[in-house]
Amino acid sequence: MAGNNRAIEEIKSAANIVDVIGRVVPLKRAGSNYKGCCPFHNEKTASFVVSESKQIFTCFGCEATGDVIEFTKRYYNLDFKEAIEKLGKEYGIDVEFKSGGNAEKNKLLYEINREVAAFFMRALYVPGNPGYKYISGRGLKPETLKAFGIGYADEEWHSLRDHMRKKGYDDKTLISLGLLSQKNGNVYDKYRNRIIFPIINTSGKVIGFGGRIIGDGEPKYLNSDESPIFQKKNNLYALNLSRKFAGEQDCAILVEGYMDVVSLYQSGVKNVAASLGTALTENQARLLKRYTKNVVLSYDADNAGRKAALRGIEILHKEDCNVKVLHVSDGKDPDEFVKKNGPEAFRKEVASALNYAEYRLEDVKRTFPPGNDENRLKYMKAAADVIKSLSPVEQDIYIKKVAGEQGISEGALRREVEQSAQEPTVKNYGPKKIPQKAKRDDNITVIERQLIKILTVEPSTYKEIAKRKHVFASSSGANIFNALYSRLSGSFGSEILDVKALADGLSSEDAEILKSIIENEPVAGNVEKILHQCFDTIACKDLERRRNELTARLDMIDNTDSSADEKAREIIEEIMFLNEEISKLKTHF
Ligand code: GTP
Ligand code: MN
Repeated sequence: MAGNNRAIEEIKSAANIVDVIGRVVPLKRAGSNYKGCCPFHNEKTASFVVSESKQIFTCFGCEATGDVIEFTKRYYNLDFKEAIEKLGKEYGIDVEFKSGGNAEKNKLLYEINREVAAFFMRALYVPGNPGYKYISGRGLKPETLKAFGIGYADEEWHSLRDHMRKKGYDDKTLISLGLLSQKNGNVYDKYRNRIIFPIINTSGKVIGFGGRIIGDGEPKYLNSDESPIFQKKNNLYALNLSRKFAGEQDCAILVEGYMDVVSLYQSGVKNVAASLGTALTENQARLLKRYTKNVVLSYDADNAGRKAALRGIEILHKEDCNVKVLHVSDGKDPDEFVKKNGPEAFRKEVASALNYAEYRLEDVKRTFPPGNDENRLKYMKAAADVIKSLSPVEQDIYIKKVAGEQGISEGALRREVEQSAQEPTVKNYGPKKIPQKAKRDDNITVIERQLIKILTVEPSTYKEIAKRKHVFASSSGANIFNALYSRLSGSFGSEILDVKALADGLSSEDAEILKSIIENEPVAGNVEKILHQCFDTIACKDLERRRNELTARLDMIDNTDSSADEKAREIIEEIMFLNEEISKLKTHF
C-alpha cells in the first residue's frame, strides 16, 4: 500500500467524516460532537460518537474506532484499497497508486500558498496602489474583497520572491507552484500587475491562484500551475463560500469567470461557483452534487460559451443532476448583467433558464433552422437523437411538443426516436445508456408488470395507479402505461379493454412485453392484495428516498449558523418519523 499517501491525505481533507457517516447513520448533534446508534453492533441507546474536529468515530459500546477510511472499510465491508477508491470516486480525487510520501510536502505547499495569499492581500491595502483602484473601479466593495481574500501583485519583479526568501522558503518550491519563474538563472515573480483571486478548496486550504491583468494585456488571466495540491479538474472556484448557500437553496449557479462569481455574490446571489477556466469536468460535477443536484449553467452567449454549456449539461445530466442553461439577455456575462440590472432581474433569468431537453432542442434548431425540407429532416433526426436520451415520461412530452411544432405525426417521430436509440453508431447520450443488443425492457420491474396486469383486468383501478405513475420508470413500462392510461381516462375506466387495439399503438417490442404480461403475470383472484402490496412498496420507496434527501441535508447544515441545532433537530425528527413509517410499512410485506 506504500505509495498512495497523497490520495489518502487528500481524501481525509476532502471527505468530512460527519458527511460520510451521516449519510448512512442518523446522527444528532451533541455538544461539539455528533451521536448516533452504532452501525457495528446492536444497540438502542446512542453510544456512537463522531468528532468533526478530530475526524474520528468511536463507539463506547463496542469500542469500534477509527477515521473516515476505517469507517468506510468496516461499514461497506471493503479492504483498505477499495475504501480509498470508493471515497476517491465520491470526492473527485484521483486514486492512483503511484509514488508517495507526500503528506509532509503537501503541508508545506499549503503553508506557502497561505503565506502568498496573505502577502498579496496586504498589498491590496497599500495606499494609492493601482490594484485597489482597478478593482474598486469594477464595483467590488471592501467586504467582498475580504470575503474572497482578493489581493494585488504589484508591478515589481521581485516583491514576492524577496518576501518569501525572507520568510525562509525555497525558490524551488515556489517555482514548482507556478508562483515564481526562472530564466537564465534569474528568479522573478510570475504574477505582476495583477488582481489575485486565491482559489480555496472546501476544506479551507489555499490551493492555487488566478490573476487578472490590470487593464489590458496578455494573458488576461493567469492561473496557477497544476501541482500536487491543485488540480483544476477537481475544484470549483468559490465553492468554499457558496456551498452553504447552494445547499440551503438547493440550487447552484455555475459561471465562467472569477469576476462573475464575485460580482454575483456581492449582489446577493451567493450560490455561485466557477469552473477554473476549463470546461466542466465529471469530478467537478460530483463535487457540486454533494451540495445540490440542481445546477444552472450561466455561461456567456458567445460560441465558446454555448459550446461549454452543451458539454457541461451533458456531464451534469450524466451525473443525474437537474441541469438548466441560461445565457443572460443583457450584457456579455453575469457580471455585466447583474451590475446593470440587479440581483432580482438575474434571479428572474435563472427562473426562466432552459432545462436539458429544451436547451438541446433549441441548439438543434439553431444548427438546422427548419426553413427547407432538407433542414427539417436533419432537424427531426437530431431532435430524435436528443429525445432518446430523456426519461420515458420526458420522451413522451417532447415527442408531442416537437411533433406539434413541426406538424408531423407523433408516431413518425416516435419511430425515429426508437430507431435512433437502436443505432449502435449513433452517440448515445443520457444517464441510462442503452446496451446495444439488450432489449429496452431490461429494467421493467415486477411492480410495473403487476400494475399493468391489474390495469388490464381491473380497469377501474386506473386513477389510483395513475397517482403513482412515477413507478413506471422503465421505457417500456412508461409507454405501456401511457397507452393504457389515455384509453382508460377517456372512458373513465369503464372500457372493456381491446388489447389488440392497444398493442397496435405500441412499438412491436412494447407490444410483445404487454402480451407477455397479460399471459404470464399471475394476479387472478388476488388483485386487491397484490395492488396493495404494490402501493405499500411504492410508498416505502418514496419514504426512503425522502429520508436519503434529509440525511444529505443534515450534513449540509452549517455549524456556525445560530439556528443550526434547531434545523438539525427538525430534520432528525422528520427522519425518525420516516423511520417509523417505513418500518410500519415493512411489516405489511
Ligand atoms: P473580465 O474581463 O475580468 O470580466 O473577465 P471575464 O470573466 O469576463 O473574462 P472571460 O469571459 O474572457 O474569461 C472567463 C474565464 O476564462 C476567466 O475567469 C478565466 O478563468 C478564463 N480565462 C480568460 N482569459 C484567460 C486567459 O488568458 N488565460 C487563462 N488561462 N484563462 C483565461
Ligand atoms: Mn466579464
